[in-house]
Amino acid sequence: MNRSIASGTVLWNRGSPVQSLMPFSMFFLDESFIPDLIHLQQTVALSLPFPEIFRLHDAAYFRSLFAVDKVDKIDKSVIGTISGGGLIGYSIICVPGNRDLNLGAHISLPESELKKVAHLQAVAVHPSCRGSGLQRLMIEKHLALLKGTRYEHVCCTVSPRNPLSLRNLMSQGFFIRGLKPMFSGWCRYIMHQNLAGPPAVFSQSVVISGKDLRTQLELLNGGLLGIGIDMNSDGFDLIFAGERKAAD
Ligand SMILES: CC(C)(COP(=O)(O)OP(=O)(O)OC[C@H]1O[C@@H](n2cnc3c(N)ncnc32)[C@H](O)[C@@H]1OP(=O)(O)O)[C@@H](O)C(=O)NCCC(=O)NCCS
Repeated sequence: MNRSIASGTVLWNRGSPVQSLMPFSMFFLDESFIPDLIHLQQTVALSLPFPEIFRLHDAAYFRSLFAVDKVDKIDKSVIGTISGGGLIGYSIICVPGNRDLNLGAHISLPESELKKVAHLQAVAVHPSCRGSGLQRLMIEKHLALLKGTRYEHVCCTVSPRNPLSLRNLMSQGFFIRGLKPMFSGWCRYIMHQNLAGPPAVFSQSVVISGKDLRTQLELLNGGLLGIGIDMNSDGFDLIFAGERKAAD
């Protein structure tokens, strides 16, 4: 296995009488972890409040992540977190080979930019190890890997029914740029961040209930971006704003 890229402690079974702190290490995984990835995906699937939150992949997909025909070191990359002797989390980035699958095309990035798009394809954490910031840390490590490479745009999708993941992605610099039904007709926010551009500056902002997808779609179609999220007793609110261009 490769050398560790991060380590620390994770609180297992948070909030339960048997909660305990355990050490963890984070690595770039190789193909020997395919069975562990499939097993963890199954465990995560069983814990989902709604199946549509998390798209499941088959064994061929996991094998393809480690295929020898990789274009370069980062066109597919899997980070894993190990604790208690097993895999407790993973993050996958992939470069979309096919234009139709390129999320950049779904948010109208110019054609010339599409070859610079990488996807944050999947992130999952074992149900017993949640709430220790592992999702954020794995995403942070993957963004650091992409920074300074030709992959200047990072895109991913997240379900409107997954506010914790939405908040984590926004805290890592992703903005909402689209909202549409995607695989299996499941509704998804399309998230984007530009790793190479100047920090975004925003103008007017408006707060919309997380439940009001119709108004959110209108705002996105009008050119606004989702830039923030506030959790509340009724679920969550989203903050939408217009992006100021350099000349504004
Ligand atoms: C979404 C997911 C990856 C989050 O992983 P994670 O490592 O627990 O993320 P974090 O630790 O950053 O937790 C996010 C927030 O949820 C809270 N939380 C998550 N699980 C919790 C639990 N079991 N108990 C208490 N709080 C929990 C945390 O307190 C944290 O909030 P905070 O930042 O205010 O402390 C994980 O829940 C998961 O695998 N879900 C199923 C698959 C999925 O949805 N993947 C993402 C698809 S886009």
